[in-house]
Amino acid sequence: MDILNAFNEFETSALQSISAAKDADALERVRVEFMGQKNGKVRDLQKLVGTATPEQKPAVGKRFNEVRMSVSAALDARVEQLKTQTTKAASEFDVTLPGERPRIGHLHPIMQVMSEFRELMGRFGFTVVDGPEIEDEHHNFEALNIPEDHPARDPLDNFYIACAATAAGGPVLLRSQTSTVQIRTMENTKPPVRIVSLGRVYRPDTIDATHSCMFHQMEGLMVDRHVTMAQLKTVLSLFARSFLGPDVEIRFRPSFFPFTEPSVEVDMKWGDSWMEIGGAGMVDPNVFAAVGYDPEEFTGFAFGLGIERFCMKHYGVDDIRRFYENDMRFLSQF
Ligand code: PHE
Repeated sequence: MDILNAFNEFETSALQSISAAKDADALERVRVEFMGQKNGKVRDLQKLVGTATPEQKPAVGKRFNEVRMSVSAALDARVEQLKTQTTKAASEFDVTLPGERPRIGHLHPIMQVMSEFRELMGRFGFTVVDGPEIEDEHHNFEALNIPEDHPARDPLDNFYIACAATAAGGPVLLRSQTSTVQIRTMENTKPPVRIVSLGRVYRPDTIDATHSCMFHQMEGLMVDRHVTMAQLKTVLSLFARSFLGPDVEIRFRPSFFPFTEPSVEVDMKWGDSWMEIGGAGMVDPNVFAAVGYDPEEFTGFAFGLGIERFCMKHYGVDDIRRFYENDMRFLSQF
């Protein structure tokens, strides 16, 4: 019978919509659609009841009531179900639990050591200055008394930049030492000078546990009347002691740098052994001449320390490459 089929269809689609309703609002829309007093689909069913023949009437009337009851019951049940669901969701959210802490980063260990160095040297009266990492040959070599034919200028030992040049068309390179900043400072300031400069330097070394083609140096320069080697040793000793404790010793070994005379290599006592921490010496008169300082009037000392060296010893890191790998498991220890 068509009428009964229509009832069944109504029931099936009402029950489906009821169980698909995700919240109270959606369920209310379903209720209005099917059971609404004014325009609900149930009104059409009621009209169908009127069209039944007298013989059909009892069965049709009975089925009509059943369908209405079953849909109303399903609506009521779903209302309850949605209520408990929301209260359950609310109770699962425990407002007293601590929130998720955002992970706060920190400075890279090398940056931390560099800030400490700046701070220490600042206390000794050294001003911090900066210089460019891309340099010309004048600042990286010539003014530092490194002549054209010097092996340190070999293209194989430096990162020359093929696609760039100075304004005058001269070669440019990634600086191989922070001593460039000595020159830049003296070119722009009259003595006395007391500066440090910390930053990256680049050398095409074969990379291994103690070599990297980029590393950091701290350059120091002090120029005045009567600056002596004894002062150099004092400053470096005080610096080392402030950083590592009162028992640290400093040792100088004779060495050679084109821009200092005499030149020394500096070792620091670290536990039972000596560690080379850099080069130093008295500024060569040729360097003063290159920047227009009178070598008869002024003397000065300069030093260049390898910062990674300090970091490795200080933190017990045995491979320099660890600093550059951006491995959070390593970096988060500092
Ligand atoms: N520039 C030298 C180097 O990189 C170190 C140094 C600096 C030596 C200042 C003497 C004076 O090896």
